[in-house]
Amino acid sequence: MEDLVRCYDEIVKQVFDDEKVVTFSSTDQRDVEAIILKIYKQFEKKASIDIELPKLHKNVHIKLLKSWLQNLPKSYKCLDASRPWLVYWILHALWILNDMPDTETLSHVVQFLAQCQHEEGGYGGGPLQYPHLGTTYAAVNALSIIGTDEAYDSIDRSSLQKFLWTLREVDGSFALHKGGEQDIRGAYCAVSVAKITNIYTDALFDKTAEWIVSCQTYEGGFAGSPGMEAHGGYAFCGIASLALLNRTKLCDIDALLRWGVNRQMKLEGGFQGRTNKLVDGCYSFWQGAIFPIISAILSQEDKELMETVLFNQGALQEYVIVCCQAPDGGLIDKPGKPHDIYHTCYTLSGLAIAQHGTGATDPLVLGSHKNELNRIHPLHNVAPHLVYNAVHYFIRHPPPVKDKN
Ligand code: FPP
Ligand code: ZN
Repeated sequence: MEDLVRCYDEIVKQVFDDEKVVTFSSTDQRDVEAIILKIYKQFEKKASIDIELPKLHKNVHIKLLKSWLQNLPKSYKCLDASRPWLVYWILHALWILNDMPDTETLSHVVQFLAQCQHEEGGYGGGPLQYPHLGTTYAAVNALSIIGTDEAYDSIDRSSLQKFLWTLREVDGSFALHKGGEQDIRGAYCAVSVAKITNIYTDALFDKTAEWIVSCQTYEGGFAGSPGMEAHGGYAFCGIASLALLNRTKLCDIDALLRWGVNRQMKLEGGFQGRTNKLVDGCYSFWQGAIFPIISAILSQEDKELMETVLFNQGALQEYVIVCCQAPDGGLIDKPGKPHDIYHTCYTLSGLAIAQHGTGATDPLVLGSHKNELNRIHPLHNVAPHLVYNAVHYFIRHPPPVKDKN
């Protein structure tokens, strides 16, 4: 797919214009661009003599991810309250790379997540920790990826539904934990787990769509809460929640699209999270995933748009494969940063989005076909058929206790 790779002479023309106003942000941007330009220059030289380039080092990443599932480096101690997240990020990255752990390991993971489940519903960051919506979302996604009856049956959906009710506010927003702050991540995690486990009710999400729309800012993206700054992480939560709630008509989709396309960096090819900030590999997913969602929304009016990818797929793949692979395996935010599990998961998720576009056309793969990844569902960030399997299992097995309304 030669034509997907941008040539260096074109890339170099895209250097940031500070319009003679030097700020900390403009200096940081120039510094990052200088490093990225050097990498793209070297890459062009190497690629001219090796047609297999750029290469995604799948086996190196798989080996590292599998080692992380057994043993974490000491630096992960500070994420002791995020253990279901670590499990989800590792399993999802392995799924994308098409190399899942054996059934015995997966059964151990189910048993571990069961220990993180709180008796009052939802999942905490580890055994005996208070439940939190973020770790609940991560645990439910991880169990959906495992996809066995043991995994599905380990979720106590009656108490999960009660837990969601305790976090709901009268305005339709959700706090992330009891007594915690309300933000758009809470609404997204709540609607995502409610949909996947089939405990969704209209009453539980009454006014939630209206609250989410109140987070759309003058720029077009979504903020964490009303009046705050638009950011890719929150834009994903906003539009994915509205899509799950079938209420996308409430927001200004053209403004979101305009904001989103302008977050793809002209020189780097990857995405920034917000205006005037730096490129970061994890936004390959948070920003990248809004495009197939927008295409699906716009295609309700114009069918052809389902086949239209609204961002530069080649440039994003180039950023991830050429700039975000750590030499010792795993993926990174940007050159010079160390690998970590979060960035490994979300850069690969973004790369899968960049290859598969809207999902309605053949994949467009930068480099050899061996770089191709498995597809993901842009609303849940789990493989599409795994979402389907979970939803249908839970439809066949309704939770024993009814919703309180
Ligand atoms: C800014 O960090 C980051 C945020 C304001 C929030 C990011 C939110 C997400 C990634 C979404 C989380 C979603 C779920 C489902 C839990 P920064 O200032 O370090 O980075 P920046 O300079 O790139 O903005
Ligand atoms: Zn990041």
